[in-house]
Amino acid sequence: MCGIVGYAGPRRASPILLEGLKRLEYRGYDSAGIAIGRGDGSLSSVRTVGKIQALKDAVPKDLGGTWGIGHTRWATHGGVTQANTHPHFDGSGKIAVVHNGIIENYRALREMLAKEGVVFTSETDTEVIPNLVARYYKGDLEAAVKAALVHLEGTYGIAVIHADEPGRIVGARNGSPLVVGVGEGETLLGSDVMAFISSTSRVVYLNDGEIVSLDPSGFRITDRSDSRVDRAADAVTWELGAIEKGEYPCFMEKEIFEQPDSIGRALGGRLDQDNATAKLGGLNLDRRYQRAVSRVNIIAAGTSWHASLVGAQLLESVARIPASADVASEVRYRNPVVERDSLWFAVSQSGETADTLYAMREIQRKGANVLGICNVVGSTIARESDGGVYVHSGPEIAVASTKAFTSQLAAFYLFTLHMARMRDMSRAEGERFLAGLAAVPDMIKTVLGRRDAIQAVAKKYSRRRDFLFLGRGLLYPIALEGALKLKEISYIHAEGYPAGEIKHGPIALVCPEVPTVFLVSDDGLREKVISNIREVKARGGPAIAVGVEGDKELEGIVDDFIPVPKMDSRFYPFTMVVPLQLFAYFCALDLGRDVDQPRNLAKSVTVE
Ligand code: F6R
Repeated sequence: MCGIVGYAGPRRASPILLEGLKRLEYRGYDSAGIAIGRGDGSLSSVRTVGKIQALKDAVPKDLGGTWGIGHTRWATHGGVTQANTHPHFDGSGKIAVVHNGIIENYRALREMLAKEGVVFTSETDTEVIPNLVARYYKGDLEAAVKAALVHLEGTYGIAVIHADEPGRIVGARNGSPLVVGVGEGETLLGSDVMAFISSTSRVVYLNDGEIVSLDPSGFRITDRSDSRVDRAADAVTWELGAIEKGEYPCFMEKEIFEQPDSIGRALGGRLDQDNATAKLGGLNLDRRYQRAVSRVNIIAAGTSWHASLVGAQLLESVARIPASADVASEVRYRNPVVERDSLWFAVSQSGETADTLYAMREIQRKGANVLGICNVVGSTIARESDGGVYVHSGPEIAVASTKAFTSQLAAFYLFTLHMARMRDMSRAEGERFLAGLAAVPDMIKTVLGRRDAIQAVAKKYSRRRDFLFLGRGLLYPIALEGALKLKEISYIHAEGYPAGEIKHGPIALVCPEVPTVFLVSDDGLREKVISNIREVKARGGPAIAVGVEGDKELEGIVDDFIPVPKMDSRFYPFTMVVPLQLFAYFCALDLGRDVDQPRNLAKSVTVE
């Protein structure tokens, strides 16, 4: 949430900062700005409301200066105005700060500084930071930042420059991620590696409480006790092509169509045919402990929570381990019971979601092992968890999560198989499960081949204002996910419900104007869902079904039928979510929405 970029080196800073901001735009896109050192004791700054393109248009093509910072904002304190856009400055205009996070005690700090004569020009919490740095500045930016930080309560990832210290950027992290990029004769800073991926793939992640002081020749990290931290650079393996749209009009479509490959990567090297189980190298738990696990609890947010709901059901039904999945923001404040022999998972595409991270820390504090299921390598949850599974989806840039969801499912299916084979699952059953899992990428290819038919259904319904999405069992979380996808990118109101629950209230909404999307498996729950469809049809409600190819009865009773290939019913969550992703995408396209950057949202929600 909000993106930070910094550059210090021999090149002109403005194009590098603008490119970094463009790549970070998915983290926030209300407004953006840059501040660049001119080398003559002053800073140049440009700030604009709107997307990065507006900033690009406003920055003079020949803007000089070889070190600077930039920010793309997702507003927290203060409206979307130019005055509230980062960077923010001290009264002299010599110190510039960009900030992600929330300074909780900013009112008290503002009062204190105002009494000392500081005049504030924005409504933000951030503006106290440059003024605190100015309060302590005596020719050493790093020392002044350290002194300023003592006053701050809340979360921050910041980057600070001073007009009189050419080439120097000071960064600090507490709760909001910050990464150093190590280049040849240049050093960069970012809220994530996207900020500088085209300049370097060598990165050093900061931990909470650390401060970095960098210049073109390198960087120095110190911790809260002012001790030097030596940390080797990691290599980022993402190819530049993975973060370009390529032939696609937008990232969401590209990411939906990448799913056969991204799931293939999540499964890659993990299907152990010899032993009819799954190999997960990063769990970091000894086998006796794994055997003794008596309960699995999963925490996550949004789409990751929906994947976790599928995971919990699978663990119960296939591995016969009691399991539940909960919304992280609720778990954190509920003082959860952490039972002996319970295993926890924190699931997060970005690995930076504040709700999930803080809940994970709370659970670790109570003594439990928390494994991460993350996509972004080196992210905070990935680093702080006790082990886990990387899903290897590759960078997900569209704000609405698609390929990360199906890869998270893959991680849960692998873990379930692994745990089940340690318990009661027979070798023959393990082989069947493995075969089902291995078939998923091809099944998804088939569904993607029905793109045009799904687009036609979306076109028919895109002007409706309300939708219901219903499913049962493993398909109930998929109904939730279908409703979430539709509302977040098309702004159509949609509710996901367990199909059996409709008669307890939601059926009151059914009428000719409100379509219902049903997810219909061919397992024991099929007949029950068919009854629900008849109830909806009897009340004049349009019914769309995602069901199994060849189900003529189903096809005959609904208004529109989207078939997926027949397979072992435990794997339908993979194939049935894809038409819902496409349905939401085509509805949003039809309505002219900004699919990749829907209003009010941002990827990687690093504030509570
Ligand atoms: C929806 C979506 C969000 C995220 C949620 C958690 O399309 O993307 O609901 O799933 O903000 O994000 P991560 O998985 O990064 O923790």
